This record gives sequence, C-alpha cells and structure tokens, in this order.
Amino acid sequence: MPAFMSGLSRLEKTLFRLEAQRACLAWAFEEIADRPGFVLELGLGLGRTYDHLRRHLPGRDILVFDRVNVAHADCQPTADQLVLGEIEETLPALHDRIAGRVVLANSDLGSFDRESNLAVAAMSARLLPPVMAPRGIIMSDLPLELDDFDEVPLPPGAREGRYYLYRRREP
Ligand SMILES: C[S@@+](CC[C@H](N)C(=O)[O-])C[C@H]1O[C@@H](n2cnc3c(N)ncnc32)[C@H](O)[C@@H]1O
Repeated sequence: MPAFMSGLSRLEKTLFRLEAQRACLAWAFEEIADRPGFVLELGLGLGRTYDHLRRHLPGRDILVFDRVNVAHADCQPTADQLVLGEIEETLPALHDRIAGRVVLANSDLGSFDRESNLAVAAMSARLLPPVMAPRGIIMSDLPLELDDFDEVPLPPGAREGRYYLYRRREP
C-alpha cells in the first residue's frame, strides 16, 4: 500500500486541527472571562484565529505576532495589536510590558514541515512561560514541553492529538 494511503489526509488533518482549535478557544474564553490580562496569538497567518479572538473578546488586549502580514483584508489587526518580525526577537522585546500578565496564548505556528515544527515548538516552549500569568493557559497546535504547566484534557469537540492545552501551575 502506498504511504499516502495510511493515516489521515491533509484535508482531515487541517479540518480536525481547526475544529479542535475552535473548541479549545471556546473553553479558554470561559476560563479567562473574569481574569484581566493579555491574549497572545503567535502566528497571524491569514488572520482567521485573530478574527475569532477579536469577535469573542471585545475590549481585551490582544497582541498578534507574525513575520509577515498576509492576513485577509477583513481580518487585519489594528496597528497597536500587530507585532511584526521574528517571534524570537519580538516576544522577548515586549517582556517588560507583558511578563506575568498573559492569561491566554495561542501558539499556531505549525506547518507540514517536521523540522520547522520542532523548532517553533521549542521556541514557544522557551519564550511563552516567562510572560504567562499564574494559571495562564497556553494552547498549541504542536505538543510543547513545558515545566511548571499541567496538560489540560481537551474539551468536547476537540479530537485527541489535534491541539494541546496547558495551564500554568500556581506558584
Ligand atoms: C499556521 S500559520 C497561522 C494561521 C493563523 N492562526 C490563521 O488563523 O490564519 C503560521 C504563521 O506563523 C508564522 N511564523 C512561523 N514561525 C514564525 C516565527 N518564528 N516568527 C514569526 N512568525 C512566524 C508564519 O509566517 C505563518 O504566517
């Protein structure tokens, strides 16, 4: 049997990832409802998740990161929300402003390139913890190795292994 016949198709992987992301976001919105703080989106991409965030979290401080802005015209972040450049540089540069104040971060940096995925997962696992608030939630399209965080079971509607949820332990 040819290799492409086994496992999920790309269509299914994309579909299930987006389905899981939306379910995790719905869960996270309730979790952070009465908690002030920043929401970070790593990976503006076409702006789909950013558009979802701004609709569901009106008035919330949202920062969205990417090296380029190729978002749809109707998904454009405001100038004060968009952080353009390599996340390795732009996220640490915001440390004084956001350290310990991020209640939700969505790391959506994955692709179909295995090497790139290992690199961006390591980057998110290194750069996100210093900015997260106590009990802050990290969502990720890739598994992250995080000290001092507990993995949270996925909410209904999210298939296992299609998204990952972590919560910072109380100090
Ligand atoms: C999967 S897409 C994000 C999809 C997006 N959430 C959406 O709703 O359309 C990943 C994005 O991460 C960006 N990216 C990946 N690694 C990056 C890095 N190290 N620094 C800045 N941007 C990065 C890519 O440019 C790409 O636009």
